[in-house]
Amino acid sequence: MTAPTQTSPSAASAVVASSTVSDASASIAATSASGPASAASGATGVAASAPAATVVERPLTHFRTLPVSVKVNGEIVGPTDVPAGLMMIDFLHEYLHLTGSRLGCGQGICHACVVIVDKPDGTSEEVRTCITGANFFHGKTIRTIEGHAKRNEAGEVVELSPIQQKFLEHFSFQCGYCTPGFVNAATVLIERLKRQPIAKDKVEQTITEALNDHICRCTGYVRYYEAVKEVVMTTPGLVKDAA
Ligand code: FES
Ligand code: FES
Repeated sequence: MTAPTQTSPSAASAVVASSTVSDASASIAATSASGPASAASGATGVAASAPAATVVERPLTHFRTLPVSVKVNGEIVGPTDVPAGLMMIDFLHEYLHLTGSRLGCGQGICHACVVIVDKPDGTSEEVRTCITGANFFHGKTIRTIEGHAKRNEAGEVVELSPIQQKFLEHFSFQCGYCTPGFVNAATVLIERLKRQPIAKDKVEQTITEALNDHICRCTGYVRYYEAVKEVVMTTPGLVKDAA
């Protein structure tokens, strides 16, 4: 299913921002014009002769900008100056055209928008991009859903990651809107278990905790869980006392 509002909120924001400025300019122009015009009218009593207000379009250069240079899926992008309040999800969608990260709630609740941040110490973590400014990622290394599968030189997907493959095999998702977030969450979990294997009796609780923040409106929770469990139990080295 095509994501219904994947880019429209950003596009809508851009449209609103533009029209707001134009409207503001028009309002300001109208106000400043009406002042002298009214004054002139009062002074001369010939309002009809006041000149028409001219709308002056101004570029959006008055926004404070901050630089963003970030390594995304192995490739450094930027530095690019972006508006100080720009959220990372909008940077990914509108500047980099990486639209796989989903804008769901936009309030930090559903976790559909997470990307993976690879930290210098070799660990990785999820970060919500709908409530985190693009500038926060300046100098960081991230992975988005577009960076999981192996691709050939033409950029075509030739092999899914183990998590992606198991989600497909288990029919874990329906509309798929939450899937990029679940892929990232499960991938962070698998990478953590490679560094810190867990006992077999902790597997179920560990998977539940790792996926717990992610909301699936199609209620694919059990199948997501089962797919991740299969990857955990069949990947060597993740569970200490696995058969
Ligand atoms: S869209 Fe970011 S947490 Fe819901
Ligand atoms: S598959 Fe539709 S929201 Fe999860």
